[in-house]
Amino acid sequence: MNKIMKAVTVAASASLLLSLGACGSGRSATSSSEAKDAKDMTIGLSMPTKSLERWNKDGANLKSKLEKAGYKVILSYADNKTSQQTSDIENMANKGADIIVVAAIDGTAVGPAVEKAKDTGSEIIAYDRLIMNTEAVDYYATFDLEKVGALQGQYIIDKLGLKDGKKGPFNIEVFSGSPDDNNAKLFFKGAWDLLQPYFKSGVLVSPSKHGGGVTANFSLDKWQSIGVQNWDAAKAQTDMESILDSSYAHSEPLAAVLTPNDAIAVGVVNALGTKRPDLKAGTANWPILTGQDCDAPNVTQIAQGKQAMSVFKDVNKLADAVYDMVTTLAKGEKVTDATGKYNNGKLDVPTKLLTPVIVNKDNLDLLKTSGFYSAADFDKLVG
Ligand code: BGC
Repeated sequence: MNKIMKAVTVAASASLLLSLGACGSGRSATSSSEAKDAKDMTIGLSMPTKSLERWNKDGANLKSKLEKAGYKVILSYADNKTSQQTSDIENMANKGADIIVVAAIDGTAVGPAVEKAKDTGSEIIAYDRLIMNTEAVDYYATFDLEKVGALQGQYIIDKLGLKDGKKGPFNIEVFSGSPDDNNAKLFFKGAWDLLQPYFKSGVLVSPSKHGGGVTANFSLDKWQSIGVQNWDAAKAQTDMESILDSSYAHSEPLAAVLTPNDAIAVGVVNALGTKRPDLKAGTANWPILTGQDCDAPNVTQIAQGKQAMSVFKDVNKLADAVYDMVTTLAKGEKVTDATGKYNNGKLDVPTKLLTPVIVNKDNLDLLKTSGFYSAADFDKLVG
């Protein structure tokens, strides 16, 4: 039984006695009067790393919302180390966290830690990234993962005019995200489902042998071979530099790079700068680059024509969704407004799914009007 339900049950028996005693006086217990008060609850927030901009925003957003409502909050960042995340979660459970919200570094490695926490009565919410192969996860909130990849793949298809019958062949290089992040697989699936038919018809080709080579028959289960560990920009830069050395050292054209997130797009832009100074951002020879998160350096890259698009996932809205879950659980109730389910290998986890949207040069302002960046910060970023 979890910590909240234990509290509710104890309170419920007490109030049953009270209401029996008060029989005839018209008083009766309501479930909300039995729920735990925010000030008596501790919420743990286990974030993966401070080194990528979005998780700083995610952690800060959730913490301030929860604290404003009176909850005690323990916020930890695990420096992209799975052992650190395990001890962060154990520490939260030991401190009596009623609910632990986890953005996993490695969705599978974090399993035993959340199982222990669940045994001591914490409820577990997977945040943005699913926790895999365990029953110890109660809910999940994220942006539609395949849709993110589909927006990236479709963008490349549209900008190259492939639907209009352009035959190319166009050179494209393809990356996926961190091999230990289940999200990365689903982002890649969303994009690859759309791009693969053009590899099959020979309109798109990937000349490099990156990850063993991405060809028409490249199957989804090989996605990790083209991954970038920890979504690390420096690693992406090194990988892209060797792609450029091996296959683009003689002025070969490069039409697009599927870069699954903004950190990887930064690495690829840097590599283009060091290895192919002849390519000029904002002109026809510059490749179409994708991304997600709308990180600060990428807002600048988009404004400068170095990155064609990013997928905007408004983490304020994700924080709102998780905040609503916490409030519901605090009342001793179940979350009933999940909009989908994701299977984690052991169970279908009820999921609140949010909608990602494309941002490019034409609607970059959305990042200001939505309040994602303050007007002053935004104006600085776009120069
Ligand atoms: C998130 C992305 C992020 C990436 C690296 C993924 O799990 O969904 O938004 O770019 O991790 O932090």
